[in-house]
Amino acid sequence: MSHFENTLAHAQQLDVQDPLKSFREKFHFPNFHENTIRYFTGNSLGLQPKSTREYIIEELDAWAKYGVEGHFLAKKPWFAYHENLTEKAAKVVGALPIEVVVTHSLTTNLHLLMVSFYRPSADGKRTKILCEAKAFPSDQYALESQVKFHGLDVAEHLVEVAPREGEQLIREEDILAKIAELGDELALVMIGGVNYYTGQLFDMETITKAGHKVGAVVGFDLAHAAGNINLKLHDWGVDFAAWCGYKYLNSSPGGVSGIFVHERHSYNPELPRFAGWWGYDKETRFLMQPGFNPMKGAEGWQLSNAPILGMAAHLASLDIFEEAGMDRIGAKRDLITAFMEFVIDDISEKNKDRCTFELITPRDKTKRGAQLSIMAKGQGRALFDALSDLGVVADWREPNVIRIAPAPLYNSYEDCYWFGQLLEKAIQ
Ligand SMILES: Cc1ncc(COP(=O)(O)O)c(C=O)c1O
Repeated sequence: MSHFENTLAHAQQLDVQDPLKSFREKFHFPNFHENTIRYFTGNSLGLQPKSTREYIIEELDAWAKYGVEGHFLAKKPWFAYHENLTEKAAKVVGALPIEVVVTHSLTTNLHLLMVSFYRPSADGKRTKILCEAKAFPSDQYALESQVKFHGLDVAEHLVEVAPREGEQLIREEDILAKIAELGDELALVMIGGVNYYTGQLFDMETITKAGHKVGAVVGFDLAHAAGNINLKLHDWGVDFAAWCGYKYLNSSPGGVSGIFVHERHSYNPELPRFAGWWGYDKETRFLMQPGFNPMKGAEGWQLSNAPILGMAAHLASLDIFEEAGMDRIGAKRDLITAFMEFVIDDISEKNKDRCTFELITPRDKTKRGAQLSIMAKGQGRALFDALSDLGVVADWREPNVIRIAPAPLYNSYEDCYWFGQLLEKAIQ
């Protein structure tokens, strides 16, 4: 983009103009290194909001003061604590409140949702799952084990769409063609909304429509999309989705996950599911009666009472998202990622005699979020190690990719400028 310059002055000017600049102050930046840390791993573990401590201490104090009575006497009674998060999480993913609940962890939720939404037909016809090749390993294992759970053969029933020979990205036309080809054999489409490795964002609306056209159910793993992409899960008609709270959503290591179940499934108590008491109708839960009577909407997928400390951390972060708003976050995401791309291209061009690397993330801003994946040929690991020594916290993914994510809430344009400088130093 020609309007950028790879200079400190230009980066600082972009920071001055940044409507979200004050949000940086709301986060703790790691300081464990002799060099200033440049943190670009919000796509792996988001930074800790300074407010998280207060939110957790509020609950620790309530526990100390009230013991079990905190379920009813705490300022935010634990009995209904998750309800504090629902509307805020729904805004982040473009959903109605009834469609969202924050609960459990991501892979657990993917399994729970697939129990309901991967229902191979009894006549043995509609049995296949379509997913992307190189899905995150946990998703691969989850998908494989779901297929096996139904007594089906993985090689036959789990169909992957891969990039074409010599390409890094999956062509959407290939996904759509495969959906059409599988037709009435396709039970479920389950794809990562943003691929963890390449940072490729898939057109979830078009994929959903294509899946529905052949009668399949469509779900997404939004680990790399929630808090990153401007999602409209309700309008897109997605059947179900799950995401984790600890990446762009900054909600503590291993933090709680969210699920989305489209409103069209909200009022169907017959939908098969694995049940637990926290998904039981709230008004009559404590009558402890036999026979499961699920809550309406996504809440009906809860199994257990909420882990309050993790939920408190998530609430702290969701309050920041509410203040910033996904529209502003999305606008900065596009600009700061484009600036980072410009800086990387500039350093790459200047150093092309020493080191070649290629950005494998789409260059089209509508096809990516805040992540850029750099594939460094040959010396990738050495480059990554040199960057780490210089204080850059990025992320290495086998076999040869360095992932960096300028997180719009707390990364600055100056961070991106310094990344370029350190990249050049690492190359040298
Ligand atoms: C795309 C994706 N799916 C699933 C997972 C697994 O998440 P969890 O360990 O919270 O179940 C991750 C973790 O990074 C991920 O990136």
